[in-house]
Amino acid sequence: MEKAAQLYEGKAKKVFATNDPDLCIVSYKDDATAFNGLKKGTIVGKGVVNNRMTNMMMRLLEKKGVPTHFVEELSERDTVVKKVSIVPLEVIIRNVSAGSFAKRYGVEEGIVFDEPTIEFSYKNDDLGDPLINDYHAIALKLATKDEIELIKKYAFKVNDALKEYFLSLGVKLIDFKLEFGKTSDGAIVLADEISPDTCRFWDVKTNEKLDKDRFRRDLGGVEDAYKEIFARVTKGE
Ligand code: TMP
Repeated sequence: MEKAAQLYEGKAKKVFATNDPDLCIVSYKDDATAFNGLKKGTIVGKGVVNNRMTNMMMRLLEKKGVPTHFVEELSERDTVVKKVSIVPLEVIIRNVSAGSFAKRYGVEEGIVFDEPTIEFSYKNDDLGDPLINDYHAIALKLATKDEIELIKKYAFKVNDALKEYFLSLGVKLIDFKLEFGKTSDGAIVLADEISPDTCRFWDVKTNEKLDKDRFRRDLGGVEDAYKEIFARVTKGE
């Protein structure tokens, strides 16, 4: 399968058409941004880590009964996926307080929740991805009520599977962001990526951050963190 015209270039990936109207090729870049593109940089090797790690997670989740857009890994950076229209919602699950949750509610990071939480952001760069609730999303026709219920069910299933998986690698899954898409036949599937760009990973013993927060917060050791989490996921392969 080969790349045809470029359909889209995002902050971290490019998407290409193929000769099959139902399939695309995503190509992962080393570009990193934060704060809605305000902070820009490069994380050397990130594209390879995020491509391979995302594909491993998608395969695992398919086995657990979560449908995904994943079709076939083509190379270090390129993957064939089903063509979907992205539901313009960022779906965020949290197990432990961190990031914008800690900031918004004035609590420290690291509080372990009794139950995971879910929230949605409206994917809209011009508006800065504002928080949105189910009712608003339905009112704006971003998704139907049934689609939102299904998305929630899948998101919690992803959390159950990934929390257990990462714990077996000595990693706490603090929180993560998912995106879902709709295929040409109307099915809702997990899309986008599951990577250190979109998840917070803390080492079980030391609480060391093994994710993009090292870039967002100028903590140093960014490439090493991506290498470390990748080494752990590939060791269990
Ligand atoms: P937050 O605490 O900044 O809201 O982030 C929650 C999770 O979502 C965290 O794992 C990082 C991820 N995330 C993205 O993948 N993309 C984004 O644009 C933002 C803001 C967060």
